Order: sequence, then C-alpha cells, then structure tokens
Amino acid sequence: MSETALPTLSPGRWQTLQLLRKTVRNPLEFWPAEVYQQRMVRLNFLGASRYFVSDPGYIQTALVDNADKLHKSDQMRRALEPALGHGILTAEDERWRAQRRSVAPAFRPSAVNSFIPAMIAAARTTLARWQAMPDGAAVAVDREMMHLTFEIILETMLSGRGDIDVAQVERSIADFLQSTSWAVVLAALGLPEWTPFPGKARAMRGRSYLRGMMTKRVGERRHSGDRHDDLLSLLLDARDPETGAGVSDTEVIDNILTFIGAGHETTALALTWTYYLLSHHPEVEAKILAEIANVTGGAGLEPGQVAELAYTRQVVMEAMRVYSPVSMIGRTVMQGFRIGQQDLQQGDRLLVPIHAVHHHVMLWDRPEVFDPDRFAPEAAKARHRFAWMPFGAGPRICIGMQFALLEAVAILGTLLPTLRLRAKPGYVPVPISRVTTRPDQGMPMTLMRR
Ligand code: HEM
Repeated sequence: MSETALPTLSPGRWQTLQLLRKTVRNPLEFWPAEVYQQRMVRLNFLGASRYFVSDPGYIQTALVDNADKLHKSDQMRRALEPALGHGILTAEDERWRAQRRSVAPAFRPSAVNSFIPAMIAAARTTLARWQAMPDGAAVAVDREMMHLTFEIILETMLSGRGDIDVAQVERSIADFLQSTSWAVVLAALGLPEWTPFPGKARAMRGRSYLRGMMTKRVGERRHSGDRHDDLLSLLLDARDPETGAGVSDTEVIDNILTFIGAGHETTALALTWTYYLLSHHPEVEAKILAEIANVTGGAGLEPGQVAELAYTRQVVMEAMRVYSPVSMIGRTVMQGFRIGQQDLQQGDRLLVPIHAVHHHVMLWDRPEVFDPDRFAPEAAKARHRFAWMPFGAGPRICIGMQFALLEAVAILGTLLPTLRLRAKPGYVPVPISRVTTRPDQGMPMTLMRR
C-alpha cells in the first residue's frame, strides 16, 4: 500500500454517544468506514488517540517489531480478567513470558498431532447423533459446533469432562461474554470496575460457576497426584526452565479457563461460518468431498490423513478471512514508537481491525467473495503474510493455531462425506463481535443425507 496523509476523525459529542451505543450493540459497527480503505486511521475519542492499523506492513511494525512497547488494551483486560485472571492471554511482560514457556511443550507439532485421534473420535460421536436424525431435521450448527469443540478441549486439556456440567459451562461462558461490550465501554469512559450495567449479575454468576468448577478439578488432580497426558498435568508439573519456579494453583486455574475459553468457541465459530459458506457454495463443497474421497478411499478419516486434506484447509482459511472468529486486537502503547510517518505516544490506543484487514480494498480483489483458491500456495505466497491474520501476529500470536486448523479439518473430514447441511432459506446472519464474532441469530440449518 502507498503512503498518504493520516486520515483523522474527531467525532463531536452526539457522534461520540452514537459510537458508544454501537460499541455496546456490536463493536464492528463502531469502526469508521476508512479502516477498510486506508492504511491507518486516527480516531480521537474520549480523550485518547486510537490508531486503527490495517496495513500489513504497519501491523508488523507494531505487533512484531515493537511488541515489547505494547500491552493488551485496558478494555480487553477489563473484559476478560474477571474470568481469566492473569493467565497467558491477559498477563504481561515476565509473567506472560514464564507462562508461555511453561505451556509451549503442549503445542509442539508432535503434541498437537497426538490430539488428532481425540478430535476425530469426538466428531464421530456427533456424526452418529446426526445420522440418527431424520432427513430435513433442524440443526443449530453454532450450538453443535460449540458442543463438539468443547468436548475436544476438555478431552485434550483435562482428559475428559468428568462431572463438569457442559450445558452449564456453555451458558456461563455465553453470559460472561455478553457482558464484555459493557466492560469495554465503561473502561473507555474511565468508570470504575464496580459500575453496574445490564446483565452484570448474570455474568458474574457465570464467572463464579466457571472458576468454582475449575478450582475443584485442579484441587482434585493436585491431591490425587494422578498423571495424565494433558495440559492440566503439564501445568501442575511445569517448572520454568529459566527460574525453576512452579505454577501456582491460581495460575493453573487461570490458564485452564483461558484454554477452554480461547480454545473452543473460536474454532466452533470458524466451523459454523464454514458450514454457512459451504451451503451457499456447492461447487466448493464438491471439491472438498472429492479431496476427502481421494484421501480416505471412501472409508472414515484416519488421524494420519488429516494433513493431506490441503484443499479443505484452504476452505477453512478462506472462511476465517470472510468471517474472522476474532475481529479485532487491541493494545495500549506503553512506550512511544513510530509507524510509517506517525509517532505513537505512551497512552495511545492501537487497534488492529482483523475483520477490516481481511476485507480491505487494497489487499483483496473482491473482498466479499468467498474463494478458497486465494489460499492456494502460490497465491498465498504473493501476499504480505499479515494480510491474513485471524490468529494475530508477533510474540502474542495464538498458541493454538495449528491445533485449531487441524481440529477444523479433522471435523469437516469426518462429518462432510455422509451428511450435508443447508442454510435456512433467506437467512443472512450478521456477524456480532463479543470478543469473538458470532452470527446474530445463531446458525439454523437443515440436515440431509448425501
Ligand atoms: C479458529 C480458532 C482460533 C482463533 C481464530 C484464535 C485467535 C486468537 C488470536 C487472534 C489471539 C491473539 C490475541 C491478541 O494478540 O491479543 C489468540 C491468542 C491465544 N489463543 Fe487462540 N485462536 C483460536 C484457537 C485457539 C485454540 C484451539 C487454543 C488452545 C487450545 C487457543 C489458545 C490461545 C491462547 C492461550 C492465546 C494467548 C497467547 C498469548 O498471549 O501468548 N486459541 N488466539
């Protein structure tokens, strides 16, 4: 993209009120149209400069080259800390580095590959349930995918659900996330954390349930001394390779909740949106089915075959471009640095509007069109690597990226050959951002045998 003067927007009082209302309703509506057209936009809002950075080169300058001068945004911290404490997603500096080092072994390629059988087994359970349904049955794909990825995260991170009430956990997470846009607005207004808002009591009940359930589970495992091949055992046994320090129970709970929160809903949404797009693109679905049949020879997908489903992976990547499960990354500038011609000062806010990067007119030809060939190796190589960044960038990049992509491909490879899902005619879902980006009315679809 070429250099131009920095577009700057300074809304008046009435516009500020409207922007706040939009933030509560759907933060995606808050963004100025310029973020889809310009490299960087400054919004002077509530006494702070907010820089929306859409240019991949600028994103690299910020999130990679100057990562040590940034902290997670106050808003994001305030929205998530009540549930996730100071786990790896919300911690900063040395506290973050120590935790990232401790959990890294669970995300090495060999470890992630060892999770594939659990992913396929869980998908087969869903398949069996769907096969028992009559043709034309209504399926809430968003809820089905949430359920499935939740089983997988419990199996791989905790060796199974034990006595965890899955429905209650799902409700608690949804109630908690519902409150996050209020937390964002109240933080932007500089109001204290105790400020009441609609739905706060329900969100806090959800939070208490989640933390109580995990406290019990961690306590039981710590006292039994049982060893399992899962993230919980890894965290309980972890010693920081540099300091030799162990991880406290509170940090273990913070992190298990972080992995449950960050690791299932995002992948479920990637799959939900993929199903929606496939329903409207039968030609793409036909190509996936041909690839799966070619790799499996018509039998059920085996763990060793998941890596061979290259086109299916492209489809997931393109679906995550069109509907990025996380629509934005926010940071606060802790120490000034320069992006292009612009000096950012301490206290400025930096926003990477992932959804806008993925739909930017200067980066993508016909951005609204779903076209998995954009992710064919040659086409992908020709682009800046941060033109597609659903998993973030730099040292805070998603630790679960390979896990998520393998999981999505393993699930589609297991479910697609037998059953197809068709979107409800006339339903056009609107993406709503609540930390993650969900379809406003869920994803009602109809099940058909092939
Ligand atoms: C499609 C699925 C997923 C998407 C779109 C996604 C997206 C992201 C993004 C954008 C970030 C960076 C946030 C920032 O920089 O502020 C992130 C961080 C993180 N993700 Fe994911 N994620 C996905 C799946 C997963 C899975 C499966 C796991 C774990 C099993 C996971 C665990 C984490 C953790 C722990 C972090 C914090 C990393 C750190 O700060 O060091 N994510 N994710």
